[in-house]
Amino acid sequence: MADLGLIGGTGLTKLDSLVVERQKIVMTPYGEPSAPLTFGSFEGHTIVFIPRHGAGHSIPPHEVNYRANIWALHHVGVKKVISIASVGGITQPPGALCIPDQIIDYTWGREHTYVESNNEKVTHIDFTEPYCEALRKKLIESARGISLPVVTRATYGATQGPRLETAREIRRMEQDGCDLVGMTGMPEASLAREIGLCYASCSVVVNWAAGKSDKPITMSEIESNLKSSIQHVRMLIGALS
Ligand code: HPA
Repeated sequence: MADLGLIGGTGLTKLDSLVVERQKIVMTPYGEPSAPLTFGSFEGHTIVFIPRHGAGHSIPPHEVNYRANIWALHHVGVKKVISIASVGGITQPPGALCIPDQIIDYTWGREHTYVESNNEKVTHIDFTEPYCEALRKKLIESARGISLPVVTRATYGATQGPRLETAREIRRMEQDGCDLVGMTGMPEASLAREIGLCYASCSVVVNWAAGKSDKPITMSEIESNLKSSIQHVRMLIGALS
């Protein structure tokens, strides 16, 4: 039984070295997940995989059914989730591999909670530390074990997208304390906490955030940086104990 779930982001719609055993369509009280769950093995680990943006990478960040994706992983017995995300770098350069420890949420209008008025009792999760420290530690140890440089503390700023930010928005986010900017980190992380999953993020910086370099941000830059960094993500997960 796989207790490790992987949520693949941009560039990880397919995991090249994933050995697929079976796929399962999971219906949830919150609608359909982004794709059927794939059960298989990846870099020596038995895992359950779901591509956040759908099998054909057609679901934009603000339309991802985060509630269904997290519910489905929990439903099939996953206990720990590693979210793989590509992000813009505010204080970290392209190529940096980061295990963030904090989040600032700038998203709006997303279905962001399992707590609803028909629940028996309103609950408030403790989100002081938004990521699962045990899983963060494992990822950091795994990187150390193979001498892979990783940033062990970083604040992830979650924006609404799908557009990229203005230079002034990024400057404000930097003043707020954000190191990274991405569009999918929330509400994924808080839903995982609500449902009781241990959740951590492995964030790959694929471009300098808006205004942090002289050049415009292009999809081709993002794609080529992603291609070279994804190998590091694979190595990191492969080295997990
Ligand atoms: N901003 C927001 N999300 C992103 C970026 C960015 O610059 N790069 C990759 N995901």
